Amino acid sequence: MPKVVYPGSFDPVTNGHMNIIERCAERFEQVIVAVLVNVEKEPLFSAQERLEMLRLCCGHLPNVEVDGFSGLLVDYVRRRGADFIVKGLRAISDFESELQQALMNRRLAPEVDTLFMMTDVEYSFLSSHIVKEIARLGGAVGNLVPPAVEERLRRKLRSEG
Ligand code: PNS
Repeated sequence: MPKVVYPGSFDPVTNGHMNIIERCAERFEQVIVAVLVNVEKEPLFSAQERLEMLRLCCGHLPNVEVDGFSGLLVDYVRRRGADFIVKGLRAISDFESELQQALMNRRLAPEVDTLFMMTDVEYSFLSSHIVKEIARLGGAVGNLVPPAVEERLRRKLRSEG
């Protein structure tokens, strides 16, 4: 049973991400959720906060590890001795950029393949970006993110004024 890396910014982790993580945990021996530490765009949550929220949300999954990485994803995958990169696909709109990344990653590291998992349909509209926008504008995000994230999102936006 292979070991996989599920990479992302997770700013913050949503129920859509958790859907992929939980399904990977059932299907693979070991799942490493790899948080990109040096996100290009200014993240709402620090790397430490993003890691902490993921660790809280994945605490019930014994074969899931949450780790941070910077630099090239394929270097991290090689370093960790993982077999595959797993990416979630929500809609056809995700496909173009995911294809580009998967092909580039294969050019950089031909032995590393990317597996795509379709996000369950109820999460197909969900993204960290849209969750932050709804929360900023006072909308309810309770059914879009895990409870630990909802609470931190509220606190963070309150402290931002
Ligand atoms: O959640 P995101 O922001 O869509 O995740 C993007 C991520 C982290 C998977 C991607 O930006 C990435 O792999 N970054 C690491 C740098 C890298 O390897 N770049 C070349 C990929 S083609």
